[in-house]
Amino acid sequence: MTFLFNSDLQRGAVFREAFARELPHMPFAIGPGTASPADIRHIITWSVPEALEQYRNLEILFSVGAGIDQFPLTAIPPGVKVVRMVEDGIIRMMQEYVTLAVLALHRNVPAYLDLQRNREWRPLPQKQAADRRVGLLGLGVLGRAVLESLRPFGFRLSGWSRSAKMIEGVATYSGNAGLSQMLGETDILVCLLPLTDATRGILNREVFAQLPKGAGLVHAGRGAQLDSHALLTALDAGQLAGAVIDVAEPEPLPGDHALWAHPKVLLTPHVAGVTQADTAARAVIDNIKRYEAGLDLVGLVDRTRGY
Ligand code: NDP
Ligand code: OXD
Repeated sequence: MTFLFNSDLQRGAVFREAFARELPHMPFAIGPGTASPADIRHIITWSVPEALEQYRNLEILFSVGAGIDQFPLTAIPPGVKVVRMVEDGIIRMMQEYVTLAVLALHRNVPAYLDLQRNREWRPLPQKQAADRRVGLLGLGVLGRAVLESLRPFGFRLSGWSRSAKMIEGVATYSGNAGLSQMLGETDILVCLLPLTDATRGILNREVFAQLPKGAGLVHAGRGAQLDSHALLTALDAGQLAGAVIDVAEPEPLPGDHALWAHPKVLLTPHVAGVTQADTAARAVIDNIKRYEAGLDLVGLVDRTRGY
């Protein structure tokens, strides 16, 4: 009943120590080839290991990250449970990142950086937070945590999800009509959606056109959700005033891509929420204990929904 850790060695050392303390009955291996595949019951990995079929007693495939779009779900035997990472470190970092990005757009940081480059001392009109509408695409673990971080500033908050939700103090929407309604009332749009067939390319020309003129975009979902050409066109036309982009397609973004140098774009290299070894080990150990006790797994992926 071995646990196979298939990620970076530094994180592996933290996991090994935590497993020895909390799950001493469970043999722990780092890297494929260090244990007999038939003995392995659980694997944590970013991408599916080669020759997955050799792990014939595999029960749970844990993702190192919150997203599981890198897993080819149809190639994973149906009996294997796929579990995404739900851990405090990623959540806290995502709260920081999106709050920083929303405040940057709210306080015109891209425009002020441009003025600074031109040595121009010129105050711009400033709205109050209570007059700024922030709309989230995705009301899952991260979307809801981000709403809580934004709340104290007094922004008008809304959110869109696949299934209808009720969240106090937040206008919630679902379905295509709900999306259009929310977009028409959103000054800063934040994407925290998982990448699925339904969300690929969702940040496109039609969506940008439905936002009020001068809106902003924060994108921390997945690169393939963004039509970057449509974004650049919307920024150049003034339809969008600024964008904070953490994910791109492909990653790393090629050096000659127009997003790098666009004056209205703040770009970061997929660092919004990074799995933290100590809190992630805690989350995985808790999940294995839940599994052994016959309880539901936290972050269990619904394969038919794809997230
Ligand atoms: P969850 O699974 O908890 O939440 C996903 C949310 O998206 C849910 O509210 C879900 O709706 C909604 N959703 C999914 N598909 C659709 C759809 N077709 N239409 C409308 N809403 C939809 O995921 P997390 O919050 O944990 O993570 C979200 C994503 O953030 C990850 O999948 C990953 O891609 C990205 N991420 C990025 C990081 C970075 O560093 N940039 C770090 C970590 C994550 P419902 O509630 O109805 O199910
Ligand atoms: C994740 C990520 O999914 O890093 O955790 O994007």
